[in-house]
Amino acid sequence: MAMKDTYILGIESSCDETSVSIVKNGTEEIATIISSQIEIHKDYGGVVPEIASREHVKNVTIVLEECLEKADMIMNDIDAIAITYGPGLIGSLLVGLEAAKTLAFVYNKPLIPVHHIAGHIYANSLVKEMKFPLLAVVVSGGHTELIEMKDHYKFEKLGGTLDDAIGECYDKVSRVLDLEYPGGPKVDKLAHEGKITYKLPVPLKDDSYNFSFSGLKSAVINLVHNEEQRGKEINKADLAASFQDVAVTSIINKVRKAIIDRKIKYVIVAGGVAANKGLRAAMEELTNELNVELSIPPLKYCTDNATMIAAAGYFAYKDGRTADLTLNSKSQDTLK
Ligand code: KG4
Ligand code: ZN
Repeated sequence: MAMKDTYILGIESSCDETSVSIVKNGTEEIATIISSQIEIHKDYGGVVPEIASREHVKNVTIVLEECLEKADMIMNDIDAIAITYGPGLIGSLLVGLEAAKTLAFVYNKPLIPVHHIAGHIYANSLVKEMKFPLLAVVVSGGHTELIEMKDHYKFEKLGGTLDDAIGECYDKVSRVLDLEYPGGPKVDKLAHEGKITYKLPVPLKDDSYNFSFSGLKSAVINLVHNEEQRGKEINKADLAASFQDVAVTSIINKVRKAIIDRKIKYVIVAGGVAANKGLRAAMEELTNELNVELSIPPLKYCTDNATMIAAAGYFAYKDGRTADLTLNSKSQDTLK
């Protein structure tokens, strides 16, 4: 007899995307709606938390309705509700959480709390079956982490950034180069037009699995200011190329160590910075050399979305991880 299908409705609102998605059995996307606020925050050069919360309030019910309509489903067809409980902007998180709790209460559905990073990792299950032991390289605007998984929903954090996240560092570098927000993609593009000519420090050359990006960020900012003061012009493309080389190398060094030390067989790159062309190429080279499988989900699953939350929610549900209506949002929380 065929197993009954499980439909999870996921809600994501941890930063500046309001998203609702329905996923079948943790692997098959049925429908997703994402309402992005990028255009609104652009003028400020970054996400303004209070504006973000207010936009979520405006959007969340509309996005939910559109998603159900697109899936041609009603709430009774849904088995459980997965919600990003954290980490993220607290005001933004609370809006999604309240929507999820209301749905769970009114329709009497189980509520599944999902850690945002678990979502980024499980984006992979929408494209490929996960194999263990797995190493997740989580690189985004808020995170730079190496996470080992020995099985579904068994996370062990090997290391992470001691200060800035890599995406945050890209965004700051882009700002000092006068590029538009969000700067990561702009710096990446420029890097491919330049040569490595500027000497920048490679951060944290130790044998931990940790990262550090604030020193690199400051080095770039100081370099730009010093050149300006001397009336010299910066070659932006060359600086972008030099910066990207150091940023990517510092990730690759630690990933190499983790693969070897932990006998990893399968590597996932997750989060918004997985879109980076330099990082993708370097990860391909490294995993080829070490003969391990590499999976980088397509871009639409790498940036924030509720599809990944619904996918992770399915595996969390199977692991018995439901919550009651006292569930609260957390701006910070370790992935466990
Ligand atoms: O995962 P995400 O959508 O949001 C967070 O959870 O943080 O990641 C957004 C981050 C931003 O910092 C953005 O600048 C960066 O990902 N990003 C990139 C690229 N595309 C997006 N950074 C470097 N190169 C890219 N191509
Ligand atoms: Zn994210």
